[in-house]
Amino acid sequence: MNIDTPRPPLKIAVLISGGGSNLQALIDGCATGLIPGRIVLVVSNNPDAFGVERARRHQIPTRIIDHRLFDSRAAFDQVLARTLDESGAELICLAGFMRVLTSDFAHYYAKRLINIHPALLPAFPGLHVQRQAIDAGVRFSGATVHFVVPEVDAGPIIAQAVVPVLAHDTHDTLAARILRQEHRLYPLVVRWFAQDRVRVEDGRVRILDGEENGQHALINPMGEV
Ligand code: GAR
Repeated sequence: MNIDTPRPPLKIAVLISGGGSNLQALIDGCATGLIPGRIVLVVSNNPDAFGVERARRHQIPTRIIDHRLFDSRAAFDQVLARTLDESGAELICLAGFMRVLTSDFAHYYAKRLINIHPALLPAFPGLHVQRQAIDAGVRFSGATVHFVVPEVDAGPIIAQAVVPVLAHDTHDTLAARILRQEHRLYPLVVRWFAQDRVRVEDGRVRILDGEENGQHALINPMGEV
């Protein structure tokens, strides 16, 4: 299909574990028309995640799948996959989803499972990454949206946003600065998926040209502090 041809709204599922501010950015992106898509399901592994409440306020179907009720990651992932398939989701967005997924799950959803990570991968994978960035003394950090592969925080990079790391930064001030850019970056990337403009070639991502002239990074080094 030509990228200019109108297509049905992309069906999106969002997986969360916590506050859900990235979920909110995606909800808002769909509401404003930036994302020609619809969130068909929000899944949380954490029954107390505030993001669940955000989804309910917008009449988005929610499911709690509490990982503590499962004997193994594989059993949890099987129920998660069945739930996602029943929703008809075409793109699955991890948005602060703090569970490692099995390689079977990553393979099953290859090319339609993406994650947002609060650092400039491949630097600082894993947890507590804002602390890692401050301790390493880097002058820039940011956010990365990438495809999910079996190795944690390692799939092909789709887009990145850059922020400064300032001398007086704490984990919280840096995390907040990065999060503000995440809220710009994630809806933009999901928009590209909804427009069918994302391709992977030789392990690298190419964005087919559109109104952003192929720009796939938000460089914001002197941005808000
Ligand atoms: C975001 O900073 C996201 O990048 C990070 O958790 C935060 C969730 O915030 N994700 C990870 O660290 C994944 N390993 P939110 O719940 O307000 O969207």
